[in-house]
Amino acid sequence: GITRHYKFDIKLQNVTRLCHTKSIVTVNGQFPGPRIVAREGDRLLIKVVNHVQNNISIHWHGIRQLQTGWADGPAYVTQCPIQTSQSYVYNFTIVGQRGTLFWHAHISWLRATVYGPLIILPKHGVLYPFAKPYKEIPIIFDTFKLKVKPGKTYLLRLINAALNDELFFSIANHSLTVVEADAVYVKPFETNTLLIAPGQTTNVVLKTKPHYPNATFLMTARPYVTGLGTFDNSTVAGILEYESPLHSAASIRNLPLFKPSLPPLNDTSFATNFTNKLRSLASAQFPANVPQKVDRHFFFTIGLGTSPCQQNQTCQGPNGTIFAASINNVSFVQSTTALLQAHFFGQSNGVYTPDFPITPIFPFNYTKNPPNNTMVSNGTKLVVLPFNTSVELVMQDTSILGAESHPLHLHGFNFFVVGQGFGNFDPNKDPSKFNLVDPNERNTVGVPSGGWVAIRFQADNPGVWFMHCHLEIHTSWGLKMAWVVLDGKLPNQKLLPPPADLPKC
Ligand code: C2O
Repeated sequence: GITRHYKFDIKLQNVTRLCHTKSIVTVNGQFPGPRIVAREGDRLLIKVVNHVQNNISIHWHGIRQLQTGWADGPAYVTQCPIQTSQSYVYNFTIVGQRGTLFWHAHISWLRATVYGPLIILPKHGVLYPFAKPYKEIPIIFDTFKLKVKPGKTYLLRLINAALNDELFFSIANHSLTVVEADAVYVKPFETNTLLIAPGQTTNVVLKTKPHYPNATFLMTARPYVTGLGTFDNSTVAGILEYESPLHSAASIRNLPLFKPSLPPLNDTSFATNFTNKLRSLASAQFPANVPQKVDRHFFFTIGLGTSPCQQNQTCQGPNGTIFAASINNVSFVQSTTALLQAHFFGQSNGVYTPDFPITPIFPFNYTKNPPNNTMVSNGTKLVVLPFNTSVELVMQDTSILGAESHPLHLHGFNFFVVGQGFGNFDPNKDPSKFNLVDPNERNTVGVPSGGWVAIRFQADNPGVWFMHCHLEIHTSWGLKMAWVVLDGKLPNQKLLPPPADLPKC
């Protein structure tokens, strides 16, 4: 691989959207931010210079960061934020990954405007496991026009960088072939509609019609709403337009516009069906290395709840409480220094405790209504794993308030989605149905509303790795935790020392 240099100047920029102009935090004045393109095996050196009043940090969502946890980016987890007029060089190599990912700010709510595509092409001379597309187009949901020619294939790299909306995506009168999810190839399958949660990416092949059609086609992306959350109903639309030499721009505008029909807002069976179709290639070239034996089993409840209201807080929760979100009844409290530094220098005392509960503090029937354990406790609790532990984690939604599905994102690893279901997870029956052959491998998975999902991963990456709901509002309420993975014995199993320019708190 080669070394690629990028410079990200964090600065304010006036942006006009729907007739309103406002000043937002951007990278290099661009919104969405610049596209990073690299090849598998390349090293990236991205210098981030902070010219704004806010603190900043950038996360390379889905990049494994083998031995380079210092470049992962979540503020107060792997680094202190980059302060005003400071800079930091993110330095990492892309090992064994290729596909569509994205990067985004990882501090407070700044990822609303600070994000962009991160495209990893295969190594030189290595082909895609599907026919070479005529053209590749990254799409980071926003209003866009897609100009195409007839009789061609286009690889659409779809990125859901939204803060809070799980999206249906569809193009009128065209079917799509899904070939990759979260930068991992899948067994290709055809569908009219896709479901993509925040933090997820999906590559699809669009085959255009053999001849110029006398129409243009609407592309829609609309939230999938399983609860009565804070979602809006807006439809982000794009237009698929055939560039016909027979039509002038004006006559194209007069062509009939076809609209796709999307599943109903809360179509859970569509969602389940779609996720069940996602399967690893599990081929000789792209094997699915699913851990077949498990060293440690974890059962996490993922839910929204309430905690007692303190003075000076706005108590929007029921009965004078505040909304809280928790994993195993623990609502994560952000540290004031970087957890990774505390771990690396053996200074965890007073920063975090290694006692994250491996099962819920108050077990109960998760399908019962009303629930009986909505209260949470606060803490900066982590799980500590020896190097190369194989982990099975079952995440059970507790459907306590509202009922969105939670897209859980794990930093530092891909995991395999070995099983999922509705209702209470049954440890005696459900594991016998797990798919250990070709499960979907990814970095973000939806914990279904009122159901559970089981994942497996091999803890072969030393460092401190954040895991959280990719709905920004739930993260801010505490739906997050972190794993510490200890060094292994061999030199290539150890976290490298921090770079000299690592920001200080
Ligand atoms: Cu894309 Cu920790 O997030």
